Amino acid sequence: MNIIETANYEEMSRKAADYLVKLVSAKKDAVLGLATGSTPHGLYSEMVEDHKMNGTSYEQIRTVNLDEYIGLPSTDPNSYHTFMRKRLFDWIDIKSENTHIPNGQAGSLEKECLRYEQMIENLGGIDLQVLGIGHNGHIGFNEPGTSFNSSTHVVELAESTKKANSRFFASLDEVPTQAITMGIKTIMKSKEILLLVSGSSKAETLQKLIHGPFTEDFPASILQRHPNVTIIADQDALSLL
Ligand code: GLP
Repeated sequence: MNIIETANYEEMSRKAADYLVKLVSAKKDAVLGLATGSTPHGLYSEMVEDHKMNGTSYEQIRTVNLDEYIGLPSTDPNSYHTFMRKRLFDWIDIKSENTHIPNGQAGSLEKECLRYEQMIENLGGIDLQVLGIGHNGHIGFNEPGTSFNSSTHVVELAESTKKANSRFFASLDEVPTQAITMGIKTIMKSKEILLLVSGSSKAETLQKLIHGPFTEDFPASILQRHPNVTIIADQDALSLL
């Protein structure tokens, strides 16, 4: 794993944006795997700023997001569809038909998972997958105990994940209990992975990811086996290494 240490969150976001912009400039029709959560906010702001200032174009870029809540309309303020539009897609020249996010309102969730997995294959796979990480080691919404062999599937969210994400909802009761997520195997098929980690609250998680046991009880430990992972993390997140 290639680890890039930054002084703080802002520098982490800038470095991550530089990384993506470089790829997008070199491969104009790249397939980018995107993530939600608070961690990539800064990355997306930097990408928007770069698009404005330097004109980096996303006209032929395709994107696939990791996950979406089940049961929230795509227009709900807390859906990941809304998150991506508001934080990134509305501000760059990407074509909306080239942006893909699981449909958490599909009539048949089982069919939606198969469709999503097949769609990624049809795009030729993911060139670079951006990841954040949950405190319990979840990536996407793959909670502890998820099979390393999993493809896109429906998950029950862990109590701790619901609590952590309840900060965006009016109350804990409003947090969806399920989500659709790319599986661990889907993520591992990406040609390259860029993991962003910030803050002392993630220090133990990052320490475990790098030095802890390889186990399904800690989903992110799978990244130890990926041939091309770059971690951009700030000093606070790296403080236990
Ligand atoms: C959510 C997302 C993950 C994200 C994680 C951490 O559960 N599904 O993709 O990595 O939260 O979020 P944050 O960056 O807000 O700590």
